[in-house]
Parts: sequence; C-alpha cells; structure tokens
Amino acid sequence: MKGTVFSELLALALSVRVASAGRGSAFGLRDLKSLVTFGDSYTDESRLGYFIENNGEAPPVGWESPASDSTASGGLSWARIVSNSAGAELYNYAISGGVCSNKVSPRHFDAINAPFPDVEGYEIPAFIADSHHKVGKKPFLNLPRHETVYAMWIGTNDVGNSAFLTDEQIKGKTLLDYVDTIYSSFDKLYKNGARYFVLMNLAPLHLLPQYAGPELDGPDATPFWPNKAEAGNATAFHERIKENVVTLNELFKYKTPVEVTFKRRYKGANFALFDTSALITDIYNNPNRYLKGTPNVRGWINNCDLTGGNCEKADCPESYLWFDELHPSVRTSEIIAENFLAVLNGKSKYATYYSS
Ligand SMILES: *[C@@H]1O[C@H](CO)[C@@H](O)[C@H](O)[C@H]1NC(C)=O
Repeated sequence: MKGTVFSELLALALSVRVASAGRGSAFGLRDLKSLVTFGDSYTDESRLGYFIENNGEAPPVGWESPASDSTASGGLSWARIVSNSAGAELYNYAISGGVCSNKVSPRHFDAINAPFPDVEGYEIPAFIADSHHKVGKKPFLNLPRHETVYAMWIGTNDVGNSAFLTDEQIKGKTLLDYVDTIYSSFDKLYKNGARYFVLMNLAPLHLLPQYAGPELDGPDATPFWPNKAEAGNATAFHERIKENVVTLNELFKYKTPVEVTFKRRYKGANFALFDTSALITDIYNNPNRYLKGTPNVRGWINNCDLTGGNCEKADCPESYLWFDELHPSVRTSEIIAENFLAVLNGKSKYATYYSS
C-alpha cells in the first residue's frame, strides 16, 4: 500500500520536473530544489521540540531542523513527504501551537512559559536570518530563486480555542488582522527574494472531531481542549468555527488576486492558492476514494486521556482521516503532499494561480 502511494508520488514528482521544465505551466516553476514552509503543527517536524528541550530558547541561526517521523500526524509531515518524493531540500520553520501573529492572538504554552512562537515574530525572522547565514563560504540554505517554493499553512490555532473561537484574541483585534499578517509575511519573504508562493487555506476545522459538535459525534473534551464543555455550547462553537473558516477562505480567494494581480504587491511573483479545505472536505465526503479499508472520517487513530497520556492507537491507521481530535493522519498528509506536487505542476483542480 505504502509502495503504491510512494510510487504515485514519485511519478508526480518526476512530472513536476518534466511538465514544468519549460514555460507555460500556470505556476511557472522550473523545478523544485527547495521547499520553505511556515505554519503550525500541521507542518512542524521538530522546531517546537527544540524550544521545549531548551527552556524556551529559540534554535540558533544555522540550526538544521531534523526530519522526524513522529509529528502531529503520527508520522511524516506532508512537507517531508513532498521533499522526499521530489528530492528537494525542506527548510521547515513551522511551529506546533503557533499562530500567524502573537500581536493578534497569542496562545500561552506552559512548557516554555511563553506564547507559542508565531509566524510573524519568530518563523519569518528565523528563516531570513538563516537565509543570510554562511557555513564557511557556502550559504547555509540553498535558495535558487526560480526553484524555491515558499508555502504557508497557518490558522488552525488562530481561529481555534484559546484564540478567536473563545474570544481570547488581543482586545480590539479581528480576523482581518490575522489575514493581514499572512500577506505582510509574504512581503518580507518577497523582499528576501521569494518568488513562488503557495498559500494553503484553512482546513475544514468544523469537521475536526474537536470542533465537530455533538451532531457529528464530536467529543465533549479533548487533550487539546480539556475544558471544552465548560467553555460553552459545542453546537455554537461548531457553527462559529465553520462560519469563520468558510468566510476566511472566501476572503483568501478574493484578496489574493487583488494583492497579487491587481495591486501588484509582489511584482514578478507567482502564487498558488491551494484549497486544502476543498481537498479535505472531499476526503470527508468521499472517503472510499482516498482511505483504505473501512474509511473512518469522524473518529481518530490516537486515543489518549485528557492529559495526552495513556494513548492507544486504533488498528488500520490508513483508514482514518484524522490522527487525533485536532490533526490530519499520515494518510491525509500523503494525500495533501500528492496534491501539493500537482499544485506546483500548475495543474491542480484544488489550486488557483496568480502572477504579476
Ligand atoms: C446551543 O447552541 C445551539 C446553536 O446555536 C442552539 O440551537 C441550542 O439551543 C444551544 N443549546 C443550549 C443548551 O443552549
């Protein structure tokens, strides 16, 4: 089974090279040499772990973030699967628990007695510092302008509990401030030489077990939200997160062409808006097409107590959409990776392409 997935991925990876070797692809990428990622636990491999193991200290400039097969998906991150199958470098700055901006909706993390590091305040500056770092005479990062893709997938925590869902954003901030910090992060990357961007929209968070609500078998409490029941009405939370996700994703759809094509905010850059929401919703609605065995889209693989301990894993993980109440499974990560490569190829039905 794994072999099949990987050979599919390999075939796709090879076709990225061949099909886009010339011009004419909607994304215009020649080849994928390096992938630079920003985001949260949906992408993080080991960076938050460094903070935890070092009393909240950030990794030094020039730290090589190790690959890991034990991420929040229960296995490889989608970004590592892309990198492995395309033979590309992965420079992964994502931080589990992180939001786009701690000036908008910081979330406290007891283990480091500070907010989770954010995209705006930590991830982007850490990448930019690394991009100027040299090892001897050699740049620490290999970032050929026309063969490097910058992907951003951020928002699960921003719109979730301990943030906008429970009105814990900084007073006066709105969801538009969250959106603005995504585009202003792209400004900084663009200024640093980035020209190929993939914006991954919000996953259908209302379908996650944690936010599913009682109608969709959502649990009353999870390790990521142990006091959910006391926090309020689960049906109302489900409806509210759904409204926010749907509206924000529609906003990305209209704002991206306005910023990129109409205002020419990032001259000469290429953008793909990857509709991960549509892809994951498609898996939810048509699980037989994507998942193995007897598909399960409401349950999850890793069953733990509310402290995150005493975990027991379900059999047949490849039949699950979710790894736990808050995270996609490895199987879902493989599907995301496969579609990400198709996005780069300029041919994905889940992507819209913009350039200026
Ligand atoms: C919970 O919220 C839903 C939808 O907003 C509403 O229909 C329902 O009456 C609420 N339940 C309680 C117990 O307040």
